[in-house]
Amino acid sequence: MPTISQKGLLMPQSPIRKLVPYAEKAYQEGKVVYHLNIGQPDIKTPEVALDAVKVHSLDILAYTRSEGSDGYREKIAAYYNNHDIKVTKEDIIVTTGGSEALLFAFGSIMDTDDEIIIPEPFYANYNGFSTASGVNIVPVISKIEDNFALPPIEEFEKLITPKTKAILICNPGNPTGYLYSKEEIQKLAAIVKKHDLFLIADEVYREFAYDGVSHYSIMQEESIQEHAIMIDSVSKRYSMCGARIGCLVSKNKQIIATALKFAQARLSPPTLAQIASEAALQTPQSYFTDVIDEYVDRRNTLISELEKIEGVKVAKPKGAFYCIVELPVKNSDDFAQWLLENFDVNGETIMVAPAAGFYSTPGVGLNQIRIAYVLNKESLVKAVNILKEALKVYKD
Ligand SMILES: Cc1ncc(COP(=O)(O)O)c(C=O)c1O
Repeated sequence: MPTISQKGLLMPQSPIRKLVPYAEKAYQEGKVVYHLNIGQPDIKTPEVALDAVKVHSLDILAYTRSEGSDGYREKIAAYYNNHDIKVTKEDIIVTTGGSEALLFAFGSIMDTDDEIIIPEPFYANYNGFSTASGVNIVPVISKIEDNFALPPIEEFEKLITPKTKAILICNPGNPTGYLYSKEEIQKLAAIVKKHDLFLIADEVYREFAYDGVSHYSIMQEESIQEHAIMIDSVSKRYSMCGARIGCLVSKNKQIIATALKFAQARLSPPTLAQIASEAALQTPQSYFTDVIDEYVDRRNTLISELEKIEGVKVAKPKGAFYCIVELPVKNSDDFAQWLLENFDVNGETIMVAPAAGFYSTPGVGLNQIRIAYVLNKESLVKAVNILKEALKVYKD
């Protein structure tokens, strides 16, 4: 039989989706499963975006330009300028989700065996994007005790080798919920300048910054215009995960010219979804205020309920809608599977994401899970109660 590629064999399974068969079995048994495992918000998509695809006047659903339609890119540039990010449509390539923007960024700046430094825990699919691109992640550990703040900059510096091409951060962080401060971004800016590296910031949760703190983008650091690559998406901002629209933004013209070649190879981002995304930009500020209030309320409920459980440690998230929770278990993969297969409270159980998949250092994060607080408060309270009861009886 013809053989599968080494790369294909090495591609990691998503830690978020790998428990799905067990969840399906739980449904078949009639159990209710609270999904704390995946960042699919339950928030309504703005009507203005949905209406735009209902009433469009297209005769042919054609390709758009590979870099995205002019109209949409002009409007996102205006959105960024309103957020103190000085860019024009020439600095933007529209992609099929932030996921494709990450792949284009990796492809544009790294060759096989090049290295990228990433604070861990990190968004699990960075492992998959790295494998697909043939590059190596060099992790720098951030700690739950520090709320997952930026590790000391010397820790990054120690890891830089001739193969290092970039540092990648996620701000605010999935899975940590940590929001980097302006000072932390400036430390990163200084190090990438000093060592002539790229700085990629995945800012798909940029709108989700809590407690009155503003998000500070790497694109606001003028000193690193040639180094900075921002990744963005409409998926979470407008609860439009299914639109599959994101973008890559950089003032570095060579990056844009190179990413455009990758974009040309896949012809066009989705046309209808660009129409929806362009319309979504008219969403009133009140939508975001309401959404942020809702997430802050959920976060506060979740954290206070979790803190009541003995032996559980949790970092307080300042953005996005995730948190890492340390549990008194040895292996959260086994625990998560056991919850679906063997445990329920009155026919209800929970699905969580084991955190080891958010690390690339083997053996780290085994006693942690990631929780996405994308359910209403009532469900979150019930879900944490199930976790509490489960921990009372679970034996490693
Ligand atoms: C940190 C982060 N980056 C990128 C993505 C990719 O999002 P999308 O491809 O839907 O834009 C996600 C999705 O959950 C994410 O959490």
